[in-house]
Amino acid sequence: MKTKESKFHKVKNIAVVTPGGDAPGMNTAIRAVVRTAIFSGLKVYGIEKGWLGLIEGKIRNMELQSVGGIINRGGTILHTHRCPEFNQKQTRAAAYENLKAYNIDGMVVIGGDGSLKASHIIHQETGTPIINIPASIDNDIYGTDYSIGFDTAVNTALEAIDKIRDTATSHERVFVIEVMGRNNGFIALDVGLTAGAEAIIIPEVAFNLDAIGQKIRYGQQRGKSSFIIVVAEGAISAGEVAVHLKKRTNLDVRVSILGHMQRGGSPTALSREVACKLGSRAVQLLIEGKGALMVGIASDKIIETPTDEVARRKKKIDLATYKLANMLAT
Ligand code: F6P
Repeated sequence: MKTKESKFHKVKNIAVVTPGGDAPGMNTAIRAVVRTAIFSGLKVYGIEKGWLGLIEGKIRNMELQSVGGIINRGGTILHTHRCPEFNQKQTRAAAYENLKAYNIDGMVVIGGDGSLKASHIIHQETGTPIINIPASIDNDIYGTDYSIGFDTAVNTALEAIDKIRDTATSHERVFVIEVMGRNNGFIALDVGLTAGAEAIIIPEVAFNLDAIGQKIRYGQQRGKSSFIIVVAEGAISAGEVAVHLKKRTNLDVRVSILGHMQRGGSPTALSREVACKLGSRAVQLLIEGKGALMVGIASDKIIETPTDEVARRKKKIDLATYKLANMLAT
């Protein structure tokens, strides 16, 4: 297929990488990056296994067909790897040699908080223009309403909790369900609200296990016999909550840790839409000569925020949603 020449000619060879935890919709974003780049006349490389691939030179040429049939696939076709070695200056030097060897003059980094911070260091140390795309099920990145994968993870957890509710109701039990989110409660809050959880425990809001026990007892007095407690992994372990509630209620208590299933699966329409739009915009920004930015979505519009600002600032949880969830699930 004939490709269009870039009118800015600032970048020629860009690379795309997906470091850190994978998130559903990363493949959709890779596809958007690769195809926008090729249609704009750029050469595009895929770096495999996150920062490890940059260090070890695992870099491959991406063609239009390299990203065919992946729009709906979870995970990342580029693979990923937790790479603490990248914190060492010496290791980064090897990575920078590979940037030079492949003449990479722009990068799109699709990842979470850690990837963003690492890419900021690369930009500072090498001057390489880098555009970040927020992709993390945790949705804890400042500068965007949604990170790629969050909506999918929420829907996956919600489906699981709806099923758990069936058995909780049948056996008249309390279920304490732990969801991911690292140090944040964004997944727990959205899942708790939409699953109608009787209590949501997140790190951002002080919680009182006695008060939750009391809420369960009040519920029992009104004829309720099963209860769902959603716990964010960063707040307290579901096991601890269960031990506490066993002592304070006369109900059977069970624990369910949803774990890594929340990171898999086919991305939802929202995760794909965000990925298509941000992937394409990231490449356009590189072509326009920009770098050190993160693209994001705010009130349905694509926005850009300087990477250092994203790294410095903390995304806030919506307390109104927390209060609403508590009020509705009495
Ligand atoms: O950041 C995404 C995330 O899934 C967190 O929610 C979780 O705490 C962490 O990654 C798990 O990391 P790993 O896959 O390395 O165990």
